[in-house]
Amino acid sequence: MSEVIAVLDFGSQYTQVIARRLRECQVYSKVYRFDTPVETLQQENVRGVILSGGPSSVFAKNAPMPDRRVFEMGVPVLGICYGLQLLGFLLNGKVEKSTHREYGRSRLTIDREGSLFKDLPEAFQVWNSHGDRLIGLPEGFRQIAHTENSDFAAIEDPERSFYGLQFHPEVFHSEYGMDVLRNFLFKVCNCKGDWTMASYVDSSIDRIREIVGDKHVILGLSGGVDSSVAAALIDRAIGDQLTCVFVDNGLLRKNEVEAVEKLFGDTFEMNLVVARSADLFLDKLKGVTDPERKRKIIGNIFVEVFEQEVEKIGEVDFLAQGTIYPDIIESVPIGDNPAALIKSHHNVGGLPERMKLKILEPLNQLFKDEVRRLGEELGLPKNVVWRQPFPGPGLAVRVIGEITPENLNILREADTILIEEMKNADLYYKVWQSFAVFLPVRTVGVMGDERTYDNVIALRIVESIDAMTADWAQLPHELLQKISNRIINEVNGVNRVVLDISSKPPSTIEWE
Ligand code: XMP
Repeated sequence: MSEVIAVLDFGSQYTQVIARRLRECQVYSKVYRFDTPVETLQQENVRGVILSGGPSSVFAKNAPMPDRRVFEMGVPVLGICYGLQLLGFLLNGKVEKSTHREYGRSRLTIDREGSLFKDLPEAFQVWNSHGDRLIGLPEGFRQIAHTENSDFAAIEDPERSFYGLQFHPEVFHSEYGMDVLRNFLFKVCNCKGDWTMASYVDSSIDRIREIVGDKHVILGLSGGVDSSVAAALIDRAIGDQLTCVFVDNGLLRKNEVEAVEKLFGDTFEMNLVVARSADLFLDKLKGVTDPERKRKIIGNIFVEVFEQEVEKIGEVDFLAQGTIYPDIIESVPIGDNPAALIKSHHNVGGLPERMKLKILEPLNQLFKDEVRRLGEELGLPKNVVWRQPFPGPGLAVRVIGEITPENLNILREADTILIEEMKNADLYYKVWQSFAVFLPVRTVGVMGDERTYDNVIALRIVESIDAMTADWAQLPHELLQKISNRIINEVNGVNRVVLDISSKPPSTIEWE
């Protein structure tokens, strides 16, 4: 069993970032609820425990507290931010409510190297965000670093291997933060650092088998990265006990249904059900031009179709979803509200409750780039693992105005040319998104000796890190020229191509 560092989650927005940083050091790390009993941790070969930060004060009436026996487990404990206050509060130190919150950068000066600061400079910049302050050392501890505002910015009890940091080593703004975490892993916890994606696959398979037993799982496959990776992983664990449902809503890109059938049905030999519902969707969308109405109609029919397919399959116990960590809105119950634990946003329209399905989310500890690495490990092809985001309502939000089979076809052909040329230029995987948009306007052109009166295609090609902001990609003019020429020459019904040069904000990436 591979070694695990348990990160107890006290509600900081950075908790998962800690776990992720440790995984970057090839040590498997997993986030647990703050009050997880030590018996659970002991079952998992835990080599060290990190108490994360959190928004509470240790003095609050319902302040989240760990199982106090973590201090008797005989493994190193590192408290970060709120975790440090907990060390003070629970191990007989002195914590005070601070008059001012220390937030932002400060300079950390190392007073004693110890294990945590081994081979690091004497002073460096760190990132803070805390209210309470440790003013008296817990029993057996000594101070090892300070900042302008905190005498006890870092503390240690090397005898018991307990450590505390007032700052956040896991965030980018803390210089040498990774080195501090690495020292904790390799100098304090004596981790081996032999964790890889391949070992993650093995342990996930064990866990999925244990959870699912001999029951049946259903998964809504969208063709996107997350659901594809979840499908491949669960398939490897339970094979025929998984059925994937792919809804063809008639709003997909060219050849997409065939590609999904070929990959998951033929290559991976999964139980794949393709719900061919294009007519139903297009019929309900007839005459609809309002973007929000389009989205609502598509969402509702999707749930209907999906539900019918699940019923046809018969006995189903689990609904699997490709929820990844950033999809999880709320991860920790604070104070009186333990029910708030983990809400995820991908649930298929209340289906789990109605059909009494349990949820299986094998990717919910991972960030997007980790999911991609996992997909590669599972043998998914590059065009799936590295595919650009595609909106749930599909081409419906890229055909501006009314959706007709003709408009959709024009868009599909233009989009295919754009994708092809972006790939040929080795740029498809370098931009965030590159797609065509069908505009419901006709303009005059001339082809040969004839006057034309045809549609307009807009090219939307953007760079972005997280889709929150985006900028239009500055592509070589020769490439744009080629795309435009090919679309106008090869796609019937288009005589003009325009380039969208708006950034987000104020524009959005999609046109609807
Ligand atoms: P916007 O247009 O808001 O898009 O700048 C941000 C990112 O989200 C994608 N997007 C959607 N994805 N359902 C989805 O699953 C939707 O309704 C939807 N609308 C936009 C968009 O492609 C971009 O990556």
